[in-house]
Amino acid sequence: MKYKNLGLSDIKVSEIGFGCMSLGEDEKYNVNLLSKALDAGINFFDTADLYQAGRNEMTVGKAFSEKRDKVIISTKVGNQLRADGSGWDWNPGRDYILKAAEESLKRLKTDYIDLYLLHGGTIDDPIDETIQAFEILKRDGKIRTYGISSIRPNVIREYVKKSSICSVMMQYSLLDRRPEESCLDLLKENNISVLTRGALAKGLLINKPPQTYLKYSSGEVENLTTEIKKVCHGIIPSESAALGFVLAHPAVSSAVTGIRNEQQLSELIKASHQLPVKNEILSHLKAISPVSYYDTHR
Ligand SMILES: NC(=O)c1ccc[n+]([C@@H]2O[C@H](COP(=O)([O-])OP(=O)(O)OC[C@H]3O[C@@H](n4cnc5c(N)ncnc54)[C@H](OP(=O)(O)O)[C@@H]3O)[C@@H](O)[C@H]2O)c1
Repeated sequence: MKYKNLGLSDIKVSEIGFGCMSLGEDEKYNVNLLSKALDAGINFFDTADLYQAGRNEMTVGKAFSEKRDKVIISTKVGNQLRADGSGWDWNPGRDYILKAAEESLKRLKTDYIDLYLLHGGTIDDPIDETIQAFEILKRDGKIRTYGISSIRPNVIREYVKKSSICSVMMQYSLLDRRPEESCLDLLKENNISVLTRGALAKGLLINKPPQTYLKYSSGEVENLTTEIKKVCHGIIPSESAALGFVLAHPAVSSAVTGIRNEQQLSELIKASHQLPVKNEILSHLKAISPVSYYDTHR
C-alpha cells in the first residue's frame, strides 16, 4: 500500500481509503472489518455524522479509540438530522458546525478529527461563515485540517479562492469523468488533494449486475465493463483498473472505496498490489471510457 500526503499537510493517507458508508448493521463484524483493514495497510477511514444517524462514527470510534495515532479519520458535517427522524436539512451555519463537531468527537471517541469535510454545499451558502467555523475548529485543535465534499465546480472554486481547504472529495471513475474538465487540474495547481469516491461505481465496474448510472443506460454500463475486462484480461483485475485509473491523476491522494465485507476488503488489497497501472493499460482505459461534463453548477 502506498501513502500520499493530503494537500500540503503532513497527513499521509493510504491510496485506498475505507469508505465506511458501506458498512452494514452488525457492529461487532464492522469493528473487526475495520481492524483488519488497518492491519492490511489501509490507514484512512471516511465516515460522516449522517451515516446511520451517527452510529457509523460510533463504530469507527469503537474500532480505533485504542489505536488513534495509527489512523486518519475524516468525517463530515452540514446535514442536520431532524429531531423527529424524518430526514435532514442542509445547515452550513457557523454555530451549527461548531456544535456538530463536538458531537462527532464524542461519537468517534477522540479529541481531534484529522480531516473535517463540509458534506456538500451550494453557491448560495454563507460561505465566509462556514469557512470561519472550520478555521475556529482548526485553531482550537479540534480538527487538523478541512475540506469539502462537492461535485459543484462553482462551489469548489469559491473554496479554493477563499479558504485553506486541503482536500476535496469528489465522485470520479471510468463512468464519471466529469471532474477532469475543470476541477482536477485546478485542485492540483492549488496543492489541494482530491479524495475520490465511487471509483468502483458501486461495484458496477467490477461484477454487479448492470444498471443505469448517471446518464448511461444499463446496456452502456455493461458494454464498458466488458471492454474493461478485455483490456485487463490476464494482466490485472478490474478492481486495479478502476482504482488505478483515478489514482493516476496527480491531484488524487486516495480512492475512498466503500467496503462492506471481508471478501471485498481482500479483493481490494489484492488489487492494490497491482498499482500503479501501466501507462499502456491506462491509455486503453481512457480510450474506451466516455468523457463527460457537468451540466449544472458549472
Ligand atoms: N457526498 C459524499 O460526501 C459522499 C457520497 C457518497 C460516498 N461517499 C464516501 O465515499 C465512499 C465510497 O463511495 P460509494 O460507496 O458511493 O462508491 P464505491 O466505492 O464505488 O462503491 C462501494 C460499493 O462497491 C461494492 N464493492 C466493493 N468492493 C467490491 C469488490 N471487490 N467487488 C465488487 N463490488 C465491490 C460494494 O457494494 P455492495 O455493498 O452492494 O456489495 C460497495 O458498497 C463511501 O463509503 C463514503 O465514505 C461520500
